Amino acid sequence: MLGSKWVIKEKIMINIGVLASGRGTNLQAIIEAIEEGKIEGEIKVVVSDHPDACALKRAQQYHIDTRYINFKEFKNREDYDKEIIKTLKEKKIELVVLAGYMRILSPYFIRTYKNKIINIHPALLPSFLGLHAQEQAVVHGVKISGCTVHFVDEGVDSGPIILQKAVEVSDDDTEESLAAKILKEEHQIYPRAIQLFSEGRLIIKGRKVFIK
Ligand code: GRF
Repeated sequence: MLGSKWVIKEKIMINIGVLASGRGTNLQAIIEAIEEGKIEGEIKVVVSDHPDACALKRAQQYHIDTRYINFKEFKNREDYDKEIIKTLKEKKIELVVLAGYMRILSPYFIRTYKNKIINIHPALLPSFLGLHAQEQAVVHGVKISGCTVHFVDEGVDSGPIILQKAVEVSDDDTEESLAAKILKEEHQIYPRAIQLFSEGRLIIKGRKVFIK
């Protein structure tokens, strides 16, 4: 239409960096959400501490840049993290997503990306911290478990909570069957949390995260 003015909503895309050590099903769910236009962002790099991590292969299938960084080449955790940060800075990363990343980040890393690192944990925090959360839930006999997306601070699984999803634990659930139920929900809430972050809708006030 000649003479008429078009206002096109400009999308601000955030640069996402993913750290993953293993199979990468959460990474896959995030990639798919981006492809479907649900997240205003782009994964610029996937970094792994394992050369044969399935997550790296998944990223490569989508032509996402990948880096394997060998921990053994560095004298300590901070030096290792500095190398990762170098890559993240090169890629102008604005959000660091931990997707099954099996190393604890150094305080230096956490300070560098303060309030810009998120993680998913396969339990309803603050229950069942650390490793084997699904097994801990089964052994404890809880009736409800689930998953939590949270900001990462210097503690273990202790940062402000963004989203949670509950699942029922049945009498015959094993660690494996519960993990599968929880994983299905992880694949829903992790992309959703990233979407909210990318839209600038997460406001942290103390321990609480408000969604505006
Ligand atoms: C998930 O269970 C997640 O909650 C935990 O590590 C696992 C990663 O799985 N932090 P995947 O590599 O995304 O399949």
